[in-house]
Amino acid sequence: MKTLFKNIKQLLQVRDSGVLKVSGAEMKELPSISNAWMLVEDDRIADFGSMNDAYTGDFDKAVDLNGKMLLPSWCDSHTHIVYAGNREQEFADRIKGLTYEEIANRGGGILNSAETLQKTSENELYEQSARRLEEVIGLGTGAVEIKSGYGLTEDAELKMLRVIRKLKKNYQLPVKATFLGAHAIPSEFKSEPKIYMDLVIEEILPEVARQELAEYIDIFCEKGYFSVEDTNRLLTEAKKLGLKPKIHVNQFHSIGGIKAAVDHGALSVDHLEVMTSEDLEILKNSQTIPVALPSCSLFLSIPYTPARDLIDAGLPLALATDFNPGSTPSGNMNLVISLACIKMKMTPEEAINAATINGAYAMELSEEVGSITRGKKANFIVTKEIPSYTFLPYAFGTNSIDSVYLNGKIWQHESAKSL
Ligand code: NIG
Ligand code: FE
Repeated sequence: MKTLFKNIKQLLQVRDSGVLKVSGAEMKELPSISNAWMLVEDDRIADFGSMNDAYTGDFDKAVDLNGKMLLPSWCDSHTHIVYAGNREQEFADRIKGLTYEEIANRGGGILNSAETLQKTSENELYEQSARRLEEVIGLGTGAVEIKSGYGLTEDAELKMLRVIRKLKKNYQLPVKATFLGAHAIPSEFKSEPKIYMDLVIEEILPEVARQELAEYIDIFCEKGYFSVEDTNRLLTEAKKLGLKPKIHVNQFHSIGGIKAAVDHGALSVDHLEVMTSEDLEILKNSQTIPVALPSCSLFLSIPYTPARDLIDAGLPLALATDFNPGSTPSGNMNLVISLACIKMKMTPEEAINAATINGAYAMELSEEVGSITRGKKANFIVTKEIPSYTFLPYAFGTNSIDSVYLNGKIWQHESAKSL
């Protein structure tokens, strides 16, 4: 099946297959073709070019995109989409003056979500999570990473990871799974946190690896959660079992987590709201990609990741949502690119690069998705009629998406199909 998309106002993020990520000054470029066509064959991007050099081969169907733009789907490399219930009461408490830390210290926060998730059946957890995944696909996400970490017992962590596996099977987009058993210390281990680490490392992790339930290992390396020593210990063991690190660091404090991550060859370091010049130097000498989560900064009123410092130092940067019930109850990548421009002073080109090719890199998927490249998966967004791509981050809160495609097929929300 060959579909020809023609009269595309601008075809964005057109790359050769060798480009797996963009760093520093390269992020300022967003290669595109104005007045373009693109040919999709089955689930792949087959070819593209300018309408001045029109496609003359055969096709089964043509779609006229007159005035509309086409860009690769968003690649959201950091989410916690699988969770049970919500935490809007904590949101209301924070409005009244309590801090995120105070709420966590009185048993709220991650522990609150874990309690709910432990009581929720696997089917119900799947149903709630599938609804969120469908929502984000409708918002243009075409590849996603999902973490465990709201189980905090062997049963509940494995339940979460099985739900991720089922989402992967039932939805036609690349899904990567991360084991985040070290997300918070359960109350019963408060006085002896080491025993919880022993449980994660000696009992749960080997089971996760045996059942091949996760590609990545994560830990919340932060004061009051897990130390650098815990991080080193967990990453050493996880790597032996084939899980690569992608970790939560420097959200509230810089305690040495970046060095530990880089020492272990982490694929990514995520959050980075608090960065020292030493942290930056360590990243400069590494292959680890930084990931910023600006919707989390918005929701918690904490600093934004210093994107300018990172990019101006020549580093790559990816943007992701952090979709979770506590710090970021939003999986909207369109909002993320707006915030990156408005609050982090990223240019629209840098933000789109960070949310596509660099997001794909942060999931080891940039040979498959993240750009308009011959042979890549045909996962893409068609915009409404918009004046320029800068309109996407500029018109924050506006839905500029006309349609989304996964594997070359227009994606329709399950509920819309029956209408
Ligand atoms: O990435 N920082 C750690 N974990 C999540 C938030 C967890 C929660 O509050 O439920 C995050 O922001
Ligand atoms: Fe997170």
